[in-house]
Amino acid sequence: MKTTINSQRRKFLKYAAIGIAGAATYPSWAQTGGFVRTNRPSDDFLPDVEIELAMNVADVAILNGEKTRIWKITGKVLSGPSTVLDNNEGTYLAPTLRFKKGQKVRLILNNNLPAQSILHWHGLHVPANMDGNPMYAINRGESYIYEFEILNRAGTYFYHSHAHGVTARQVYSGLAGLLIVTDDQEQALNLPKGELDVPLVIQDRSFDGQNQLAYSGHMMQRMQGFLGDHILVNGRPDFVLPVATRAYRFRLVNGSSSRIYKLAWGDNTPITVIGVDGGLLEKPEQYPYVMLAPGERIDAWMDFSGRAVGTELTLRSLKFNASTHGGMGMMGGGMMGGRGHRGMMGGGMMSVSTLPSGSDYPILKIRVAKKEQGDNILPKTLTPITALQAKNAANAGQPRTIALSMQHMSALLNGRSYKMDDVQPDEIIPLNSLQLIEFDNGFGGGGMHGMMNMPHPMHIHGEQFQIVKREISPGFEDSYATVSSGFINSGWKDTVLVMPGEKVTLLKPFNDFKGLFMYHCHNLEHEDMGMMRDFLVK
Ligand code: C2O
Ligand code: CU
Ligand code: CU
Repeated sequence: MKTTINSQRRKFLKYAAIGIAGAATYPSWAQTGGFVRTNRPSDDFLPDVEIELAMNVADVAILNGEKTRIWKITGKVLSGPSTVLDNNEGTYLAPTLRFKKGQKVRLILNNNLPAQSILHWHGLHVPANMDGNPMYAINRGESYIYEFEILNRAGTYFYHSHAHGVTARQVYSGLAGLLIVTDDQEQALNLPKGELDVPLVIQDRSFDGQNQLAYSGHMMQRMQGFLGDHILVNGRPDFVLPVATRAYRFRLVNGSSSRIYKLAWGDNTPITVIGVDGGLLEKPEQYPYVMLAPGERIDAWMDFSGRAVGTELTLRSLKFNASTHGGMGMMGGGMMGGRGHRGMMGGGMMSVSTLPSGSDYPILKIRVAKKEQGDNILPKTLTPITALQAKNAANAGQPRTIALSMQHMSALLNGRSYKMDDVQPDEIIPLNSLQLIEFDNGFGGGGMHGMMNMPHPMHIHGEQFQIVKREISPGFEDSYATVSSGFINSGWKDTVLVMPGEKVTLLKPFNDFKGLFMYHCHNLEHEDMGMMRDFLVK
């Protein structure tokens, strides 16, 4: 499969080279409105929805005063209902896409940026060549055609750049947006809809004196991950949401590079969770707080009907112990954790956040603005979920262990760094098999001298997985206790936070599609440093 794609691309590049002499020599499938197609649309794919997505440099007003230069994706519906797309104009957020399970979608991505890029549909179960593997990155002036059927259940998914080595920077500049899927099961539940269904994308950014996005990319920043000093929601600072005295559905998405949130309501109301990464839970669950690591999503239910007009409520991130553990602990706790320190290093601006990871700060404010009668009652049950059985795994009793480590200024998976097209024997997975996988973050021998222990939000492309168990090794319990009541281990997941000293075991199906599917840390700086590999399903 890989070879076919590569040879198609090689063949195409040959056409493109000829094309410099005259556009007439492109094959017909490569001709399009000014952009050169790098892959062929298939004749037998009949899309229900066809959307063009253009990536451009743009300027938007984020702070008062000067506009901020960003990378904006703007969409246009070519066929299908116009409601599938909201461009989120005036923000750096990419368009929100709303699909229905079973729809066939064609997305034409046009790159008008001064850089290579490619988009990945995070959490979606799509063919390998539609998944946005970095090997399909396109240059300025090129386009990539995605064609796939929405196979996922209703849920809050998202999409973002996956260009290798620059994913963090590109997402930071704006190349990320929401992809919301609905289905009949969800529609039957009478959950809050329309303006009562509010996506909230949480991201952190830093700005320089000219209101421009600050991102140093310095080694120290890469090791810890970027931490901005402003919390933005849906691309806006100091976010305030006016609500009516009714029930709401909040789709909370952590779209940050590396920042982990310990979400809680400011008045200690428990968080009622109705969904996670891969859609609705079987029934609502209550948590004192919820940990939301980069790449993770939750659906929260909140009823404001008992609240007086004029009252306010904050959504906060609470204190937790995020410090590193082991020989290089000073890196996270001391040097990087200093408040408000800024300095020049290695020729670039090194920005150290005034909002250290694990501190207590507000994320957004909700203001009860009007009285309104609502009819949304929290359902007792949501959608059925079949529990995967460890005994049905193809490798039952012999989990595939993926050891997470940070050493010598690198972030590794089983001691390896990312290399395009480099699949090792232990990374080959038989098609249509259920796999038992464990992420080991120093569980079997953590805290070794010279090792840096950090939390890693681990993500696997393709189908959603289920969490089987979490184990913490002795010596890490105290830090762990500051986060562990906020882990949601039910439902379908595609990203799971693995704390220092922890091992998380999961069951993941690899059905339907052959080819390369990535697994990586969703701390985007770690990912760019190489904490990413491919599985080959065959
Ligand atoms: Cu959202 Cu490969 O990632
Ligand atoms: Cu993904
Ligand atoms: Cu990581």
